[in-house]
Amino acid sequence: MAQVFDRGTVLALRVGSIILLLVAVALVFAWRWGIGYPQARSAPPHQPLPFSHQHHVRDDGIDCRYCHTSVEKSGFAGIPSSDICMTCHSQLFKDVALFEPLRQSMRTGNRLHWTRVHDLPDFVFFDHSAHVTHGVPCQECHGRIDQMPLTARVKTLEMRWCLSCHRDPGPHLVKPGDVFTMHTREPATPADQKALLAYYNIPDRRRMTDCSLCHR
Ligand code: HEC
Ligand code: HEC
Ligand code: HEC
Ligand code: HEC
Ligand code: HEC
Repeated sequence: MAQVFDRGTVLALRVGSIILLLVAVALVFAWRWGIGYPQARSAPPHQPLPFSHQHHVRDDGIDCRYCHTSVEKSGFAGIPSSDICMTCHSQLFKDVALFEPLRQSMRTGNRLHWTRVHDLPDFVFFDHSAHVTHGVPCQECHGRIDQMPLTARVKTLEMRWCLSCHRDPGPHLVKPGDVFTMHTREPATPADQKALLAYYNIPDRRRMTDCSLCHR
């Protein structure tokens, strides 16, 4: 029988199919390990003032609740109004040009337009107070805010991210006094996890993954 392809073409086809296979394997790995898509860490958006958590939280030691006043009490953490900034900046840097948007906001009574860093779709129900009063620290979802000169997002906020904790919250919980602090944490020991789950009275896995918990 006459050869349909010469040897060169056969070789090229073999090499070609091996490369295709390797690319397919690489893509599966990239998908499995979440490389590239979707991006977990966002670039910080443009803001009216270059507000730095690193300076205010780490260097000046201001507690989250000083500015995010409703984080323990309501679903919404709260974005500080200009008068909260003015408790310090009516004196500190009061003539610096960088602060003009803040001064203007005080003059006009209009709030500063901070661009949202995190924004869940409207069909998802989320509640800060439920998490914060049940031992989930800010750091677990927002990362080391105290090391951010500009605020960025560090988690995807995808459903599977929420669910991965809801299926097994134990390793993510801390004692009440540790919710607002930022530092490297060792995962709780199994005994500690059991104690924390009981202390906070966390519902069972079935209720924690019920669709209607987050889609109401
Ligand atoms: C001095 C006031 C102040 C303090 C203290 C402070 N923040 Fe903020 N925070 C802000 C301001 C202003 C913004 C909006 C600008 C920005 O995104 O950087 C903000 C934004 C954020 C955002 C992003 C909100 C969004 O748009 O999605 C997170 C998350 C956050 N803060 C967490 C924290 C945590 C955690 C702490 C404590 C460790 C903290 N903040 C302490 C003032 C403060
Ligand atoms: C409790 C006092 C206090 C409050 C409240 C406060 N700041 Fe500051 N801010 C400081 C201090 C102190 C510095 C000097 C930063 C440093 O070098 O540690 C500073 C620095 C800054 C700077 C200069 C850039 C930088 O980070 O060095 C900006 C911009 C700023 N603050 C914005 C704000 C805004 C916006 C608010 C309100 C959301 C706010 N601050 C609330 C104390 C405060
Ligand atoms: C279980 C995860 C989780 C924890 C814990 C958490 N946050 Fe958030 N945070 C989110 C999500 C998700 C959003 C976006 C909410 C939305 O878009 O409706 C958000 C948004 C914010 C915002 C923007 C305003 C708002 O409420 O939408 C601020 C400010 C904030 N968080 C601060 C904090 C602080 C301070 C703490 C700790 C006291 C904290 N967060 C703990 C997940 C968390
Ligand atoms: C790191 C762990 C963790 C992550 C991440 C997390 N949660 Fe939770 N969530 C908890 C725990 C613990 C509770 C139980 C609190 C309780 O008993 O009310 C909870 C409770 C809830 C509740 C019930 C609140 C109520 O009023 O009963 C909702 C709704 C919820 N989470 C939504 C979300 C959504 C949406 C996300 C993702 C954007 C998310 N959670 C991410 C740990 C987490
Ligand atoms: C712990 C909170 C939580 C629970 C429980 C949950 N979801 Fe979600 N869901 C989310 C979040 C957050 C999003 C938006 C982010 C995303 O699209 O991944 C979402 C998005 C979705 C979407 C839109 C997907 C898309 O690509 O736009 C559907 C459909 C959905 N959920 C169905 C369900 C169903 C069905 C269940 C029950 C089996 C469920 N969810 C349970 C948090 C939750």
